[in-house]
Amino acid sequence: MKRLEGQTAIITGSSSGIGKAVAIEMAAEGANVVVNYPGGDPGLANDTMAKINAEGGKAMCCKADVSNEADVQAMFAETVKNFGTVDILVNNAGLQKDSRLVDMTVAQWDLVLNVNLKGQFLCAREAAKEFIRRGMVPSRSKALGKIICMSSVHEVIPWAGHVNYAASKGGVMLLMKSMAQELAPLKIRVNSIGPGAIETPINTSAWDTPEALKSLLTLIPYGRAGKPIDIAKAAVWLASDESDYVTGTTLFVDGGMTLYPGFATGG
Ligand code: BGC
Repeated sequence: MKRLEGQTAIITGSSSGIGKAVAIEMAAEGANVVVNYPGGDPGLANDTMAKINAEGGKAMCCKADVSNEADVQAMFAETVKNFGTVDILVNNAGLQKDSRLVDMTVAQWDLVLNVNLKGQFLCAREAAKEFIRRGMVPSRSKALGKIICMSSVHEVIPWAGHVNYAASKGGVMLLMKSMAQELAPLKIRVNSIGPGAIETPINTSAWDTPEALKSLLTLIPYGRAGKPIDIAKAAVWLASDESDYVTGTTLFVDGGMTLYPGFATGG
């Protein structure tokens, strides 16, 4: 039996990058998948949906800005209408608006905190409400529901030039842990994935030239950049009953980036 058979997963920001890989992998494991995108051109989201449907999976696209309460509530309502309920939320939508501290605008700060942190709160709140409304379905999962927060190595590694992003991910860490503590008695599991440098559109400049890649690899003991599928495999595991006793933790999938590689020879 597939590990997520018959379950429904909302994956925010899944028209590209890590979210897209998670959506495809969860569908391959039997989940009905909601491919969320923030607005604008639905082309990429439609591609993800088409790929899933072509491989025999079930997917729908849903436009919603995760930082907008009404949009998030509408996305959950549409999902329940189409698939009956929600079993898994992957709080994946996130972005960077990089700037030196002294040049950072309030707009850059607000956009990153709104999408990366407030968006995770809004989606998690709706997911928990839906899990509670639906009640336990033992034939589908041992848990009432699963929430996976896409964090980053930058929930623990400070990042000059990216204070808004690092602050948002530091916030996600304690949002995740506090939700996990509050929801565990209800049998809702909440965990994070902390990706390192994964080759996606968010960080192209860090890996798409030989010079950039060489410099990036000095930060990765395992000697390669990550691929979206590395994260998708971890997300499936965290969503499945294989990780039934795991809640309130961050699983770093980073090739050792959080191991202070500078200290391999120094210190
Ligand atoms: C960021 C990437 C960065 C990686 C490692 C991620 O959270 O979005 O831009 O390459 O962390 O620093």
